[in-house]
Amino acid sequence: MLNLNDLYSNRAKRNAGSFLRQIFPRTREPGVINFAGGLPNPDFFPIEPIIAATEKAMRMDGRETLQYGMTEGLLGLREWIADRYARQGLKVTPDQILITNGSQQGIDLIGKVFLDPGDKMVIEAPGYMSAIQSFAMYEPQFIGVSLNEQGMVVDELADTLKQHRVKLMETCPSFQNPSGLAYSIATREALAKVVSQHNVVVVEDDPYAELRFMGAETKSLQAYLGEQVITLGSFSKIVAPGLRLGWTLASPEITRKLTLAKQLVDIHTNLFAQRVLFQYLLDGNIDGHINQMRGVYLSQRNAMVDAMARYFPPETVFTKPEGGMFVWVTLPEDADAMALFNLSMDTEKVAFVPGVPFYTDGKGKNQMRLSFSTQSPAKIEEGMQRLGRVISSYLDAPSKN
Ligand SMILES: Cc1ncc(COP(=O)(O)O)c(C=O)c1O
Repeated sequence: MLNLNDLYSNRAKRNAGSFLRQIFPRTREPGVINFAGGLPNPDFFPIEPIIAATEKAMRMDGRETLQYGMTEGLLGLREWIADRYARQGLKVTPDQILITNGSQQGIDLIGKVFLDPGDKMVIEAPGYMSAIQSFAMYEPQFIGVSLNEQGMVVDELADTLKQHRVKLMETCPSFQNPSGLAYSIATREALAKVVSQHNVVVVEDDPYAELRFMGAETKSLQAYLGEQVITLGSFSKIVAPGLRLGWTLASPEITRKLTLAKQLVDIHTNLFAQRVLFQYLLDGNIDGHINQMRGVYLSQRNAMVDAMARYFPPETVFTKPEGGMFVWVTLPEDADAMALFNLSMDTEKVAFVPGVPFYTDGKGKNQMRLSFSTQSPAKIEEGMQRLGRVISSYLDAPSKN
């Protein structure tokens, strides 16, 4: 008698699952060089310091650590995060910080707190796939705003905010997933000027902010827009994603609303993980670790963009990121990156993510995301040589399908 389709909510029926999970089995085939994931490089996880931090935290505070905790999160950890913003000259207090189960949970909580079905929200085009899917559960009407080399196209944003009553804007201003682009200082200033004239909240989804390996530092959108921004931070890319620890930084008023929403979801973020991480931050060398990661990603990034310049046909265009983990490739208008993905897997065994799922309106057919973070420079060189061959033979074929 059981017919689950009659029982599932419309929301669950609409959620088709992550496109990455659909292509994941193919990326695990033997011999594949995988540029599809967005994972940090596991060779550099601080395993020994985290073992030491775990032992110390449990011996010092075992009882509190294994007990229920506050929804807001461990005070020491929130103070540490607040202090870190002082490096940018930002005054942040712990009551503006909520510890979340990764920044992904922050995205979901913001959707819960701000979105009713039909509400309009701006999303970068292309944008972070899991934010699109997560917000989609709250049934907003997405409006894409394009990106260029300087970040979001502010004139387009200004027109959009004039024409539509937008409630929420999702941005990833530092080394964006998927494009690797960063908003310049001029873009941040211009965006702030436009946004401050509207009743809209900006989500600054910022897990890669500390992974700049070249170019001038920029400040968080908080510095420009203050309480109009919710910044999402994460330890996933600077320590380890398995900890599932991130945070929201917002006004005390918004933080309270997010905290109430979170309380009903999971009471609080895993206190054991919070306490271990806090000990690691106190005793370990987090700045040295981040510097090491910047060096590693820089050499991987250089290997990728240099090899693309050598092996990709001249009609392909790609970003040259100054931080983060991603390069975004644009093929000629009539190319189909999904067909190219299948061809690439069948012939040269190189995986990447085709562009369509990064948009909310079917664009991106001729685009693709590659991550350099988990492959050695030698593998990247080989992978780009193979992919260059696939792209050339695909573009040369009389009928592309
Ligand atoms: C732009 C962006 N936001 C949020 C996340 C989620 O990160 P986490 O939940 O691990 O903090 C990611 C992960 O790849 C991301 O790329």
